[in-house]
Amino acid sequence: MSRTLLVTSALPYANGSIHLGHMVEHIQTDIWVRHQRMRGHVVYLICADDTHGTPVMLAAEAQGITPEQMIEKARAEHMEDFAGFHIQHDLYYSTHSPETRAFASEIYQRLKTAGLINIRPIEQLFDPVRGMFLPDRFIKGECPRCHARDQYGDSCEVCGASYAPTDLIHPVSAISGATPVRRTSEHHFFRLGACESFLKEWTRSGTIPPEAANKLDEWFDAGLSDWDISRDAPYFGFEIPGAPNKFFYVWLDAPIGYIGTFKKLADTQGLDFDAFWNPDSRVELYHFIGKDILYFHSLFWPAMLECAGFRTPTQLFVHGFLTVNGQKMSKSRGSFITAGNYLRHLDPEYLRYYYAAKLNSGMDDLDLNLEDFIARVNSDLVGKYVNIASRAAGFISKRFDGQLSPTLHPAAEALVERFRDRAESIAMLYDAREFGKALREIMELADGANQFIDSAKPWDMAKEPSLQEALQQVCTSALEMFRLLTLFLKPVLPVLAAKVEAFLDIPALDWSQATDDAALPGRRIRPYQHLITRIDPKQVEALVVVSKELTPPAPEPLPEPAHLLPVADTIGIDDFSKIDLRVARILAADTVPEADKLLRLTLDIGVEQRTVFAGIKHAYTPEQLVGRLTVMVANLSPRKMRFGESQGMVLAAGDGSGLYLLSPDSGATPGLRIK
Ligand code: 2FM
Ligand code: ZN
Repeated sequence: MSRTLLVTSALPYANGSIHLGHMVEHIQTDIWVRHQRMRGHVVYLICADDTHGTPVMLAAEAQGITPEQMIEKARAEHMEDFAGFHIQHDLYYSTHSPETRAFASEIYQRLKTAGLINIRPIEQLFDPVRGMFLPDRFIKGECPRCHARDQYGDSCEVCGASYAPTDLIHPVSAISGATPVRRTSEHHFFRLGACESFLKEWTRSGTIPPEAANKLDEWFDAGLSDWDISRDAPYFGFEIPGAPNKFFYVWLDAPIGYIGTFKKLADTQGLDFDAFWNPDSRVELYHFIGKDILYFHSLFWPAMLECAGFRTPTQLFVHGFLTVNGQKMSKSRGSFITAGNYLRHLDPEYLRYYYAAKLNSGMDDLDLNLEDFIARVNSDLVGKYVNIASRAAGFISKRFDGQLSPTLHPAAEALVERFRDRAESIAMLYDAREFGKALREIMELADGANQFIDSAKPWDMAKEPSLQEALQQVCTSALEMFRLLTLFLKPVLPVLAAKVEAFLDIPALDWSQATDDAALPGRRIRPYQHLITRIDPKQVEALVVVSKELTPPAPEPLPEPAHLLPVADTIGIDDFSKIDLRVARILAADTVPEADKLLRLTLDIGVEQRTVFAGIKHAYTPEQLVGRLTVMVANLSPRKMRFGESQGMVLAAGDGSGLYLLSPDSGATPGLRIK
């Protein structure tokens, strides 16, 4: 019976590039969706950029563009990356859409009417320079437990402690470098605890992977606290209806983006929206997600849907993280590989195949071992699978003008039958997301096909005039096996499969053709064209080289807190007067894409302009700097850097946590010498 399925992948943030970590999920989703379509089901695959929140707002600001411009650019890039990997979305949209705004408001209103929204004041850290409340990740300071410095506002990377940002010792704003102050404001909360009995039942009804059950029990045991769904201005997001200057927290509207995106698709294609989202919907709804966002999808999301009168997901498909060569992706090792860089070096189907070979239905991490990747793709795809066609097709083209025999060779019949018999079990494995097992079965069949060719020895038969009909049958049989293997591999290798369909001159393969024994014999095929190239290890080496972050020259290590350092050795006035210190006006401040920490400053020192690269990006945004006066060392010998020459140095005080650019009193003019 044909089913209707709505499938999503997690919505990627708009402030970063798509990388091979994202691609695990999107490739997994796409393979599953293509398989369901080949089984005759109606499937809608949707995704969108997750566009709201403070990081997006600040990233746009750092680039000197509006958040709207930034998310538009990101969406275009993300769509190009996904298309490059053959991800077949019905719609790739944006959470910054009128549809998502409308549903966020509607869901909020319904929760409010149901008495599930509380409003109460909370105290948070506020950046007095930027005039904004600081998200935990934008506050740094000393860990209250182990006293490690430079730790984030929510947890310590050194001792693992979790704490409130207000517990940090000597907190500083990572945005401005200012010391934050405590400030109170009203926040809106979703009363998750009121949904506990629903959530307990929902999460135990086969919707969540069994491995996640323990985690869920822990969460239930800890008690479900109210969820803070509002953020104060300035914030890039949707304003909460009836609450000026309050915005929905990005994680409220992100999953609602699934509904908003579907609404856009439904409007475009004339689909019945309610049939998909009403509580009695018969459509199956699946979310592919990573294990890091299980909390949002297994608690907040179903609770919101249920309490606001929408249907809940049929199942969450949860995967683990990607490691490269056994380690977390790293820019310095060159293993933080963006989708764009990958596509400039290698065929996307190699990665689709490799990921599929390693994917299963569990939440374990998946390792992309680059040597194994080359070996696996070359041996399975080139050495086993495509080899079958290249061994058989030449004889058919050259000796039989492309004509296949009407029947199989008697010695191949049982083997071809085995291929057909496996179609159902392979389909079941795809359906259960056991792609690795499916590919092992398929490659076993490919081994069988190669052994058949080895033992039939068509190259010997070709020399024997009496064996021409048998030769045609052997090659026809090998190509029939190749057709079936192509059908089985098509969810993973859609473009290669399309090339094979063209070469065999057959209609698009779907699962029903697995048992069609008349699909190929008796037909005329086109001349064999080269289908796939081996991976040359040099391609992978080149990819790693371009993925390596060009590390900027290490900044001088910052000393211990300045006030604790003893005063340096005495110098004479002559030594001091060698330093030409000048008042400088910052005319422009630009980010340096290749360097995390640096800003390129254009300085006016009266007599001339200078370019200086300063390691102050973590403390200041370019906008805060332009127009302001500072002090520079004007006679420091110029230093060649990869991105240009640094012609001096600006003066700042810092103790490893805060950084303070020096400035003269107002009234000073650029070029004044400091004495
Ligand atoms: O973790 C993330 O990358 C989020 N942008 C995922 C959002 S998924 C959904 F809820 F929108
Ligand atoms: Zn600590």
